[in-house]
Amino acid sequence: MKHLMSPLDMSVEELDKLMAIANDIEANPAKYAHACDGKILATCFYEPSTRTRLSFESAMMRLGGQVLGFASADSSSASKGESVSDTIRVISCYADICAMRHPKEGAPMVAMTKSRIPIINAGDGGHQHPTQTLTDLLTIKSLKGRLDNITIGLCGDLKFGRTVHSLISALIRYENVKFVFISPDELRIPDYIREDVLIKNNIEFKEVVKLDDVMPDLDLLYMTRVQRERFFNEEDYIRLKDFYILTKEKMELAKDDMLVLHPLPRVNEISIEVDNDPRAAYFKQAQYGVYIRMALILTLLELV
Ligand code: NCD
Repeated sequence: MKHLMSPLDMSVEELDKLMAIANDIEANPAKYAHACDGKILATCFYEPSTRTRLSFESAMMRLGGQVLGFASADSSSASKGESVSDTIRVISCYADICAMRHPKEGAPMVAMTKSRIPIINAGDGGHQHPTQTLTDLLTIKSLKGRLDNITIGLCGDLKFGRTVHSLISALIRYENVKFVFISPDELRIPDYIREDVLIKNNIEFKEVVKLDDVMPDLDLLYMTRVQRERFFNEEDYIRLKDFYILTKEKMELAKDDMLVLHPLPRVNEISIEVDNDPRAAYFKQAQYGVYIRMALILTLLELV
């Protein structure tokens, strides 16, 4: 049985196939409207989410399937002390596939070992967020036409941002992808990413603090929010939260076809005046998130 724990669980060829299915779903939604009739998706979210949980639910419903689940640890038996392993054994009796988000790194992996149904990691602590990465790849591929030969700037909380960690590990598999990491000193990419992912694979990257200087070089700018819930103290969060604010003026420094991505939710890091810029792709990205999750559910349930 197949699960999705990390974007690397899929080969580049499997990813291409998944993205092709997502593009076909976008072009011919009616063809897929009953593909999951009679199937049930469980969304087990031990940590809050709007987009990821609802986009999974929307994806299953658009495939004709049904959904059940919980949206926070407080509203599940976790509040009574039940383990993830026990919960998933029970959920395996109720549903055909499960998307799980958990504040602890590795929790969906534990669930996977005890599960009789495919498990999708919908975000585990500061570790990985593979379906956001699939969304990001589909957005880049669909709007830019390629995943290779790009210079991507990742800006903001690169230490705690799991979407960043997942996206880096997925993108290094494509030719000539250059990374520019833009963050305050305290929020630089973790050492394991710098050493085990980038340096080990001879990937070109630089780390800078100032966004303005690198803006003209970028084909893509991936903005992120400062991850308040993963900070140890509120003062540090307050000091760092508005370190970067992407404004209309800053956008003038960028290429005419640079795209701005953001996994959302946005706090202050992109000024709302940027939303009308044709290069702002973050709401389209949320739409792609539904298509790719539809394609993923179909693939893991072996319905395509
Ligand atoms: C991201 C996440 O949960 O890590 N959001 C999402 O899934 N769209 C990013 C974030 O919370 O900042």
